[in-house]
Amino acid sequence: MKRKVILGVTGSVAAYKSLQLVTDLRKRGIEVVVIMTASAQKFITPLSFKSLSQNDVITDIFEENSVYNPLHISISNNDDIIVIAPASANTIGKIASGISNDALTCTVMASLATKIIVPAMEGRMYKNPIVQENIKKLTNLGYIFLGPITGRLASGKEDIGRMVEVDVIVSEIVNVLQIKETRVVV
Ligand SMILES: Cc1cc2nc3c(=O)[nH]c(=O)nc-3n(C[C@H](O)[C@H](O)[C@H](O)COP(=O)(O)O)c2cc1C
Repeated sequence: MKRKVILGVTGSVAAYKSLQLVTDLRKRGIEVVVIMTASAQKFITPLSFKSLSQNDVITDIFEENSVYNPLHISISNNDDIIVIAPASANTIGKIASGISNDALTCTVMASLATKIIVPAMEGRMYKNPIVQENIKKLTNLGYIFLGPITGRLASGKEDIGRMVEVDVIVSEIVNVLQIKETRVVV
């Protein structure tokens, strides 16, 4: 079975950690297709993800593909996993509100794949009741949230909001892929 992860990367200082995530998934023979938001590209370049994933990086929903098969619909099928790591408060809010105005949120909206969201943000953002409502809403809709954890944040403060470690994300992805494989075999 072809194992593919669509990795969404959003605008957070933690974006660099997802380079290691790509490397660790590739080591396990999992194909990775990265979608970066415009803000994510302020933190890290698409070229780094392209080199490590050995795949083109999607940064633009209006890229030419096929008239009948737009990129955000063709990129993912139900056997895939969409992982957003790091996931900003903004992107979580957009998904929870049904907004799809970039390649990442369009792909999420158009896909029935399992979705794993890995938030990273300042403690006050994470504790904001609006963010909490958005997370609760998406959790109830079947989205899997990993973290965040308490630890040292980009601001230097100790608080909740730190992205979970990459090996935790890899374990969850491998678990979900194994469950999907079992379902296919049975
Ligand atoms: C230096 C810096 C670090 C940031 N880190 C985060 C972060 O960790 N989490 C977050 O939710 N927003 C963070 N932001 C704000 C987001 O980049 C901003 O909300 C952006 O619109 C997110 O866009 P996106 O969701 O399309 O990637 C940061 C902004 C700056 C300037």
